Amino acid sequence: MTGKTLQFPNTFFWGAATAAHQIEGNNVSSDWWEREHMQNGGLSEASGDACDSYNRYDEDIRLLASSGLQYYRFSLEWARIEPEEGCFSKAQIIHYRNMIEACHRYGVEPMVTLHHMTLPSWFARKGGWRSADAVDLFVRYVKEVSPILHDVKWVCTINEPNMVAMTWNGTDGADMAAASLPQPDLTIGGTLAKAHKAACDVLHGEYPSLMVGWTVATQAFHAMPGCEKETEEYAYPRENYYLEVANGDDWLGVQGYLRTFIGKDGPVPFPDDVERTLTGWEYFPPAVGIGVRNAWDKSGHTPIVVTENGIATADDKRRLDYTYGALCAIRSAMDDGIDVRGYIHWSLLDNYEWGSFKPTFGLVAVDHETFERKPKLSLQWLGNVAKTGTVGDPSER
Ligand code: BGC
Repeated sequence: MTGKTLQFPNTFFWGAATAAHQIEGNNVSSDWWEREHMQNGGLSEASGDACDSYNRYDEDIRLLASSGLQYYRFSLEWARIEPEEGCFSKAQIIHYRNMIEACHRYGVEPMVTLHHMTLPSWFARKGGWRSADAVDLFVRYVKEVSPILHDVKWVCTINEPNMVAMTWNGTDGADMAAASLPQPDLTIGGTLAKAHKAACDVLHGEYPSLMVGWTVATQAFHAMPGCEKETEEYAYPRENYYLEVANGDDWLGVQGYLRTFIGKDGPVPFPDDVERTLTGWEYFPPAVGIGVRNAWDKSGHTPIVVTENGIATADDKRRLDYTYGALCAIRSAMDDGIDVRGYIHWSLLDNYEWGSFKPTFGLVAVDHETFERKPKLSLQWLGNVAKTGTVGDPSER
């Protein structure tokens, strides 16, 4: 694979992603903010001002656009829009409309996520996704924000519902993508699926041609010899159920970073001598390709967008190598007939990684004292990929 130059179709799109809580700062009405300020919340740092993107989104979008990237995936923050139950802030809705307009001004296609991990505190206190009226409350929020989506083409209803379900099962959210995932509760999974389908109906009712989907965390489960059955059982409630729900959707987001070995008794730790990233995950670029293939298969061939892929590293050259390896795996899945529409890198900015600023996933560095943005070589590299559709092996530069 190494050394190969890859060519992607002209229609294939390229972008970068963020999520509101991880970049905006001062998201004070959310359950995560509450947790960050709790004694024994189990997090090493609070999000605080994060990247101050609430005020600096224009600069962020301009940087993305000037690199050559074409799509910006960002999220609306439900906790800002509805800080108390039934109390919707028009000013916050206008704020997000302004973000959409900034994208259009810079020639960038916005991909809007309606729910990315964080919840309004009042909703969480009611029991969150366990609450009897969870679906209705989510749908009411979606109806409130739908007017600002009239010229948007891509919407993600819920980010990583599989991780959300595990978080609501008492998991440590800061450890969400770690190798060993706890037993998820498919009752919550079912509620999230209902909320997703109801949101799809609302949005299609308003905008029939809107591309609506959800994005699933894929784990590239790898069966140890003779453990195929255990792997299937482990993967179903943690990933495959959510991929099946996407059958019939307009598109399905695949988010892939790592692989997980499954033995007779569940996940098997990988050896100490393998390269790890700043999140402690194995350095394994092909993971996303495995995720794409599994998603295509389990969803009954729903069109795929890679909505997150990237690496936490302080070494930007390693980011190029990782991304090249990931794109080789995606290109190979496409060569086998899988319909992959685009690639959105995680993340545009070095941001708040659910408990710490240390794992740096960004194409752009952020000084957390001054909020100055410093584009990395990887932004320029991926921007050139977007402009040409051609990906050379970065180790040959
Ligand atoms: C999430 C992001 C997160 C990233 C890296 C995904 O699980 O959607 O919010 O920062 O992976 O951990």
